Amino acid sequence: MNGNNQVNAALSDPNVPLQADGNIDQMLQQLHADFDPVYNMLMNYQCAIMQVETKFNILNNRLSMQDEQNPIESIKSRVKSLDSISRKLEKLGLPITIDAAEENLRDIAGVRVVCSFVDDIYRIEENFLAQEDITLVTRKDYISNPKPGGYRSLHLVVKTPIYTEIGKKDMFVEIQMRTIAMDFWASLEHKLRYKKNLDPRLAEELAEELKSCAEESAKLDVKMLRIRERIANAKA
Ligand code: GTP
Ligand code: MG
Repeated sequence: MNGNNQVNAALSDPNVPLQADGNIDQMLQQLHADFDPVYNMLMNYQCAIMQVETKFNILNNRLSMQDEQNPIESIKSRVKSLDSISRKLEKLGLPITIDAAEENLRDIAGVRVVCSFVDDIYRIEENFLAQEDITLVTRKDYISNPKPGGYRSLHLVVKTPIYTEIGKKDMFVEIQMRTIAMDFWASLEHKLRYKKNLDPRLAEELAEELKSCAEESAKLDVKMLRIRERIANAKA
């Protein structure tokens, strides 16, 4: 049996266990692509990320020709660690296998697109979803409907094919789109959320404070958009 057949056989075996420790970088160093189905799974998600990132980079270049500004500030991506994949499967009461992960988890491949202005987010989204090899699975607009804590972002889960040496494979990718202000708020809120042992009254007070910060930064986004519109109108 050659390497590819082994990968094929292992991937179709729902009982192949995920290796729960270590992060992807360690995995990449330690494992051999041809023989390890877990490495193969992570590599597939990495390929899906590369394709999606390329699509956003191309859109960024093409749309910047129209108004002489890059609509995308930055793109950050990650493949979920094996540790987090295992913990999430466990939490969902599912077997810790490659098949269970591929069928049930939608956020193993994550791409975060940070845009300059709110309207850029929707413009990029429209162009991205119009592409033939992108299928929308779920869409949550936490910009129009922020989470109770103040979190704002547009979340998309899409399906896109990758082409491997053993054929075509559909992959899920989770995309978070947000402005610089939304990203700034979410990053700090994420850091603060993990501070433990806070007095409940103080915690409630701080949650209110964070929410008010989110509202302030949303106002900032609106103000910046208005400035941009005034500049555009002045030019015309
Ligand atoms: P998960 O099981 O966490 O994936 O939740 P979900 O499937 O219900 O998705 P949801 O859209 O609620 O959140 C997915 C991701 O969005 C999270 O993993 C975070 O990266 C981000 N996110 C959602 N809510 C918040 C929030 O209140 N604060 C911050 N900082 N990030 C958030
Ligand atoms: Mg998640």
